[in-house]
Amino acid sequence: MEGFITRLPKAELHLHIEGTLEPEMAFALAARHGVTLPYASVEAMRDAYRFSDLQSFLDIYYAGADLLRDAADFHALTSAYLRKAHQQGVVHVEIFFDPQTHTQRGVPLESVVGGIRSALLAAERDCGITHRLILCFLRHLSAEDAMATLEQALRLRDSISADVFSAVGLDSSEAGHPPGKFTAVFERARQAGLLAVAHAGEEGPAQYIHDALELLKVRRIDHGVRCEEDPALVRRLARERMPLTVCPLSNIKLHVFDRIEAHNLKRLLDLGLCVTVNSDDPAYFGGYVLENYLAVQRGLDLSKADLELLARNSIEASFLPPAQQRRWMAAIDQVAREG
Ligand code: HPA
Ligand code: ZN
Repeated sequence: MEGFITRLPKAELHLHIEGTLEPEMAFALAARHGVTLPYASVEAMRDAYRFSDLQSFLDIYYAGADLLRDAADFHALTSAYLRKAHQQGVVHVEIFFDPQTHTQRGVPLESVVGGIRSALLAAERDCGITHRLILCFLRHLSAEDAMATLEQALRLRDSISADVFSAVGLDSSEAGHPPGKFTAVFERARQAGLLAVAHAGEEGPAQYIHDALELLKVRRIDHGVRCEEDPALVRRLARERMPLTVCPLSNIKLHVFDRIEAHNLKRLLDLGLCVTVNSDDPAYFGGYVLENYLAVQRGLDLSKADLELLARNSIEASFLPPAQQRRWMAAIDQVAREG
């Protein structure tokens, strides 16, 4: 199974680059910047990754992000992730980053984007992995702050390249911060030619999924697993083939489901939803894309046909143009034939 999953060409569509900061790199960055970490060792740091809910994770995740201070840090972080993804058969990545997490600390947006982008371009050149970059707004901050961040990003786009950003997204603490808070921001992003995605229905209610579709006009729902609370919404998601970027190990670590056997991924897949498998914050949740596929394969007894469908869905749900999607679908056909 591991070989089969690795050979399947896959897109990763729900990956926070800040969430790929492994403890080893955290210690290296801390040494580089003269910071003392509150952990005695790499093992102690990894051991501290026990979360009771989304917020308890976010507190540790933002503390880790504080170690990222210049373009070289963002380049190293992104390169390490892309190396890992490539080894696992990921052929295309759509990466989230949180500009506000860094600009709030005085790190220039140019350094953040410059470091991530130089690593993305190098990986495309060296191993053919393609990419999109998605800037996410922190939903616990104000809509005004998000709008100012968007305008700053649009100015930066003028000086880099029209295609530097593909979409905007929405992440951080979900409950109490409904999508409607950001309607005007997403409207402005759309006017500027950007697509939209949003985290919804991870910890928040099914209504937030509905709102993300109606108010933010998103092209995918990140997580979305709580859609099951609204059967009419589930039917709509299936009918529209609205992709869900599901992150199984994240859902277990953050107690969205008690255990992997209780995850609703297989049920949603069988109902015809465009479910995809992703890693979210792999350094914190115990696995990259391959480990997430393996976890649901074992926990939900998925067949090779199910795995093939998940890989196809990831290509279908990507922002790749149709010709490239067809190319990867043909490559999946080939792997499926060989078994
Ligand atoms: N949910 C919300 N915000 C996040 C996540 C997540 O899973 N990961 C990083 N920021
Ligand atoms: Zn996420």
